[in-house]
Amino acid sequence: MTITTAEPRAMDSLPRPPFHSIVGFVAYWASPELARTEVTKRGERVLVDLPLLPKMLITSSPQDCKAIFTERDGALKLGEALRKMAPHEMLFGSEMIDWWNGANHALLRKKVTPAFMGKALRGYEEAIVDAAERRVAEWPVNTPVTFTHLMQDLARDVIMSVVFGVTESERRTRLEQAFKDLDRVLASPSMLGRYAFAMARGGKWPSFPELDDINNRIDAITIEEIEYRRANPSDEERKDCLETFLRIQEADEDNLMDDRMIAIFQRMLLIAGYETTAVTLSWVAERVVRHPEVLAKLEQSVDDNDDDYIDAVITEAMRVRPALPVTLRYAERDFVMNDILVPAGTVIVVYINAIHKRADLYPDPEKFDPERFVGVRPDPHRWLPFGGGAHRCLGASFAMFESRVLLKTILQRRTFRPETSRGERQDQHKNILLLPHNGAKVTLLDRAR
Ligand code: HEM
Repeated sequence: MTITTAEPRAMDSLPRPPFHSIVGFVAYWASPELARTEVTKRGERVLVDLPLLPKMLITSSPQDCKAIFTERDGALKLGEALRKMAPHEMLFGSEMIDWWNGANHALLRKKVTPAFMGKALRGYEEAIVDAAERRVAEWPVNTPVTFTHLMQDLARDVIMSVVFGVTESERRTRLEQAFKDLDRVLASPSMLGRYAFAMARGGKWPSFPELDDINNRIDAITIEEIEYRRANPSDEERKDCLETFLRIQEADEDNLMDDRMIAIFQRMLLIAGYETTAVTLSWVAERVVRHPEVLAKLEQSVDDNDDDYIDAVITEAMRVRPALPVTLRYAERDFVMNDILVPAGTVIVVYINAIHKRADLYPDPEKFDPERFVGVRPDPHRWLPFGGGAHRCLGASFAMFESRVLLKTILQRRTFRPETSRGERQDQHKNILLLPHNGAKVTLLDRAR
């Protein structure tokens, strides 16, 4: 428990994890589960202080989450934390929404939020179902598949239709190719080399012409699509994010959304949106195949069109296996976090994966039990797969909606069987995402209904 005292204590008094070295970092990479056990054994906060890296305060305290996510004086920054610890700036520059702060950030969020809520979501449903039906029809049955790969292709199709809205086939082929190239480059050894270089230089990323070229190709396709739409107004209402952005632009007295900004935004949504959803649904598959009673109830809910249980399954999978195990904030100024003084220059690591496994918050925390969330709204300081506060995932409602529609469409046609009874470890990294060890190996069967 965090006790608030009048005088905050120094951060240096916090315990340090045993892997307090670069070797420890490598050990984390090899076994995030072991690292979590070792960190949480030492309490709800630990300090990692390694040469060349910023000091990192890792917290799994819900009270700290509350303090972090309600901070409004500009002491904590998401964009700067991502620059220090991830290839974010190289991907999007430093103009994207996660770099914005304060009143301007709130204004931009207010403008773009309609693209990810209520009426817009319902407008996307048909495109999501279409994409799923096309892909599912091609999925092999009665043979083991790596479900993560299938989901990546499907989630990419959804993003291309729902966010980019590119329908003209030649443009779509080029966009698809650019995404594949982006995927390849992000997983390449030259990316890894640049990662290490940037870490050692306090987040200064070296240039990466190949990546710049792909980014420019994607942006050029968006600009082409915008120009095409201006030249060819459609009688039918186009239902995609790009159209919503263009409508926002028309009414934008603050001039926040010029064509270039829309293009970068679209690209960011792609990266933020498709792999996270693909990994989340892979974990859903990995978990439900090992819990036949959950799978049976889930199938029944799909048949009955009962969204409550479907949402509870997704919510619980995101609790036990969050796609992003952490989120970050950089302390630009000294920040008093409950009873601790966090000095300027520290990266605060909100340890989502550890918070979700606290026995005092979730009895029998390792158990996959969707009943926890049936008819229950998750507490925002205890269930954090989408982060929290002013920068909470902009696409959270969209991601939940998309996951539900995809899961329903898949389970109307196919069901899953496990390849082995042993669950897959949470230890395959892709950038900062944590995937199932074998990519959610399952066998798909035709669903007789
Ligand atoms: C299951 C899928 C997803 C997960 C687990 C996820 C998770 C996250 C997390 C943890 C953050 C950081 C929030 C913070 O630190 O407080 C974030 C930010 C963000 N996400 Fe997602 N995300 C998902 C899907 C999406 C989708 C589908 C989109 C859009 C199409 C999206 C767009 C964004 C954006 C724009 C931000 C930055 C928001 C800001 O800085 O104001 N995400 N997401």
